[in-house]
Amino acid sequence: MNLIKLPSVLALAPLVCFLSAAITSRADTNPIPVLRIKADEATGAVSPNLYGLMTEEINYSYEGGLYGELIGNRTFKAGHDGLKFWTATGGADIDVDTNAPLNDALNWSLKMDSAGNSPAGIINHGYWGIPVRSNTKYHASFYTKASDGFAGPLTVSLESADGKTAFATAEISGLTGDWQKFEVTLKTKKVKPSKDNVLRITTASPGTIWFQQVSLFPPTYKDRVNGNRSDLMQRLADLDPKFLRLPGGNYLEGNTIAERFNWKKTIGPIDERPGHKSPWGYWSTDGLGLLEFLEWCEDLNMQPVLAVYAGYSLNHDHVNPGPDLQPYVQDALDEIEYATADASTPWGAQRIKDGHPAPFVLNYIEVGNEDEFDRSGSYDGRFTQFYDAIKAKYPRLQIIATARVKSRVPDLLDEHYYRSEEEMEAHALDYDKYPRTNHTKIFCGEWATRVGSPTPNMAGALGDAAWMTGLERNSDLVLMASYAPLLVNVSDLVPGGSMQWRTDLIGYDVLYSYGSPSYYAQEMFSTHHGDTILATDSANIPTELWRPPARRRFGVEQPRPPAQMIRKIFFDATRDSRNGTIFLKVVNTLGTPQPVTVEVSGVSSVQRKGREMVLKANNPNDTNSIEQPAKIVPISETVGGLGKEFTKVLPPYSITILELETK
Ligand code: AHR
Repeated sequence: MNLIKLPSVLALAPLVCFLSAAITSRADTNPIPVLRIKADEATGAVSPNLYGLMTEEINYSYEGGLYGELIGNRTFKAGHDGLKFWTATGGADIDVDTNAPLNDALNWSLKMDSAGNSPAGIINHGYWGIPVRSNTKYHASFYTKASDGFAGPLTVSLESADGKTAFATAEISGLTGDWQKFEVTLKTKKVKPSKDNVLRITTASPGTIWFQQVSLFPPTYKDRVNGNRSDLMQRLADLDPKFLRLPGGNYLEGNTIAERFNWKKTIGPIDERPGHKSPWGYWSTDGLGLLEFLEWCEDLNMQPVLAVYAGYSLNHDHVNPGPDLQPYVQDALDEIEYATADASTPWGAQRIKDGHPAPFVLNYIEVGNEDEFDRSGSYDGRFTQFYDAIKAKYPRLQIIATARVKSRVPDLLDEHYYRSEEEMEAHALDYDKYPRTNHTKIFCGEWATRVGSPTPNMAGALGDAAWMTGLERNSDLVLMASYAPLLVNVSDLVPGGSMQWRTDLIGYDVLYSYGSPSYYAQEMFSTHHGDTILATDSANIPTELWRPPARRRFGVEQPRPPAQMIRKIFFDATRDSRNGTIFLKVVNTLGTPQPVTVEVSGVSSVQRKGREMVLKANNPNDTNSIEQPAKIVPISETVGGLGKEFTKVLPPYSITILELETK
């Protein structure tokens, strides 16, 4: 079902292999490109689950990101000494005490010795600051205990880092030698929003004081206790995502088997969660654990795509199929039961006890992550063992493989693509060529045009949009797709700082967030399409010569592929069967205005007026940022001059969606 006829110039590709890699635009010399939409030829249904989300604990995506907690390192397990994000004030001595556990999970605490001659105490700097907004209630809580004779009180203060402005304070007294939990509300008055702030807990009395689970929550999305940051949730909601692939990525696997996402340790009261090290080099408290992932899905009305740990970790440790793997298979079955079962089952009952009586709707299970990296060859056997056990108990569930397998036929295969703009363009037609007879469908579970840092620029958005026309045109086959990664804290971009992976869809500090041009391309595609894929055809599409770079595979450089001609204009068309509206998406990756002729056949008429939405930039390097969050955003307007045949000039570096009203 190849929907686009390639221009004959592509046939010349082998002849031009010897040419230099210099790119030559042919746009000036070629006749006007023609985009043909065959409205009476449906080639399939647009997958209702096509666009979704994927992220993990990377780039301080949850800690210091989506998860509402404002205190950095609230359980004293982060950093080389457990004191990351903490300092002492007023001459206090602070250290991590490994002999004063709150419980088995939170077994280290912060010990503070105060001489009592001036307010001495501890300061938390948040995740590169703490956001303070007007008339806002912050919920502060912590466990504490004190040495004999400590008279107190403790002063809890949300204040500017320079100590000059206290936005809200509260006093706590009644400390004893036993752990007690204290909770206070800190309410700000009318203030200018700021982020260079800290939480300070001090005392003027002498003594030794211990702290654990020091927490500060602002209001959260939908007011969930232990919930998520509102502005980021709203940005995700605006993408109208249909699913969340969770919990990763590499984060599922962990660097070692012990550091995998061990879901059973991420549920229950947050002060009984030990946390674990993310493979991205920092500590996760697991405050955003399995139940919170599922509630995140519920809040955004998307379904979970639950990836289960499949016995392979990033250091190439693997568990052999057979009896050794059985406990992990059982963990996966328990996890499905936790998400979906009722009170008559042990894990369904546990979910209810954890505060969520209603079961979650679950349709997709992914077995592992990127298991082609497991060079032991064990994935076929591991996948089979998971597949058989899950299908036996839950025959309805669709099972996703992360690498090709021979022994079973997966329902879907998860393919990942991180590419340059030109590579995305070169591969934008790949799915046109996939066979339609296979049972196994495609889940493009991670993909991105990796151009721009920390977030993609317009070149990234153009590569993404070119690729997405291919996803959408083939969404009878590509049932689901998710850009990755989604989130990056942009506060501290030095190595070891807040970013581990460049080119992420949404950037933020603790106070503000912004969508990249790629974010807006996602939003445009996800919220503007029909339910039926229409056949398309084209002529005179401009092309450029491009030589792919040499790639490394398993550390070995592969031969550099020959030069090839790549298209510079991409498009697809879908129709809404309820009202006949055709959504035509066209991507002009060239830096020149590009006239195109659109021909619509198979309808009696196309109204002269329609809606147009355009994302464009003057320069492919243009981008958005905290300082300029709306430099590149889509503009919508009503346009005229449409019809069954019309010519339109696409702006340079642009993504255009035309809504054609047909009869
Ligand atoms: O998205 C970043 C990483 O890329 C994911 O953790 C992993 O699955 C992939 O290699």
